[in-house]
Amino acid sequence: MNKDEIMEVLSTIKYPGYSKSITDFKVVKEVKVNDKTIEILLNLGTASDEKKKIIYDEIRQKLAKGGFEVKISTVQEKGTTVEQKHFVSNAKKRIAVLSAKGGVGKSTFAVSLAIALNRRGNKVGLFDADIHGPDVPRMLGLQQPARADKEKNMIIPNEKNGIYSMSLGYVVDPETPVIWKGAMVSKAIVELLQFTAWPEMDYFIVDLPPGTGDAALSINQNMDLDAAIIVTTPNSLAIMDAARATAYYNQLGTRVIGFVENSGYFVCDECGKKSYPFGNADPVAIETQLKVPCLGVLPFEPKIEEASDNGNLFSALDTEFFKIMDSIAEKIEKD
Ligand SMILES: Nc1ncnc2c1ncn2[C@@H]1O[C@H](COP(=O)(O)OP(=O)(O)OP(=O)(O)O)[C@@H](O)[C@H]1O
Ligand SMILES: [Mg+2]
Repeated sequence: MNKDEIMEVLSTIKYPGYSKSITDFKVVKEVKVNDKTIEILLNLGTASDEKKKIIYDEIRQKLAKGGFEVKISTVQEKGTTVEQKHFVSNAKKRIAVLSAKGGVGKSTFAVSLAIALNRRGNKVGLFDADIHGPDVPRMLGLQQPARADKEKNMIIPNEKNGIYSMSLGYVVDPETPVIWKGAMVSKAIVELLQFTAWPEMDYFIVDLPPGTGDAALSINQNMDLDAAIIVTTPNSLAIMDAARATAYYNQLGTRVIGFVENSGYFVCDECGKKSYPFGNADPVAIETQLKVPCLGVLPFEPKIEEASDNGNLFSALDTEFFKIMDSIAEKIEKD
């Protein structure tokens, strides 16, 4: 068997729980073969032991037939990465939050996810990759500039309630308009990632600007992302765009673990009636279109809008929104 034939066999192995194969998800990082042995290096990101076993078993079953000894290892076990640049390697898992459209609630979701994971006992970092409109400082209620560690030539991330964050909003004057072109966006992102003194973290959440532009590409190229989550509203145009964004991320080799339907419904405070002001697409139909699972449907709650816009999300934990955020955080822990 040669390398191409092995890759062909590997392309028939589905990533557990998904219709795409392990090669579609660019899980296979290296294949070496000689007369007796086949060595395979995988990047399994956040995969659980159970999923890892399913993948290992199927690879062995399909490749051992030719009398080869099959040796499988992962980038995670080796503690190395085959990517050239791998910033923030001191986080156990790096997750990007993205959307195709603007204003669907990515930043609200990213900040809330950081809070929900943190409340479940995880140490969390949050990176605002939106260079044109950094919203993380306002949403966290953190307006003070980041301090510098002059000796080490590093920027110290701002910390609030155990969440460590970095945003361009902490290092440039928010009143000064700056025109950022493509290459400058990438450079600003790389420098902010590189020169921040991140602590050891369980999760590192990246809030991306909308779309598949320079920031999304730069994050993909400079960090070993373990997963991406798509945020969408439940109307058909947003979903079509979300499907494109999912395909783009898969193409880049980042596994999209699922989508979140934000503002999926609204419950009237007075009469308790449920309505669907932002569209009423069925999550199951969206799953079919995006080919990734729904991680949760979040309600539109005026209390969340107020809290998110005024840096008060920490005081909105008693909402239905945060109850669902907790279940999403739990799913992410189990992924
Ligand atoms: N579930 C929700 N309930 C109430 N308000 C919400 C909810 N989700 C988001 N919002 C509000 O909607 C607005 C847009 O949200 P947000 O800024 O998070 O979107 P975004 O996708 O990050 O936008 P951009 O594309 O500009 O980065 C904000 O005012 C936010 O407070
Ligand atoms: Mg945003």
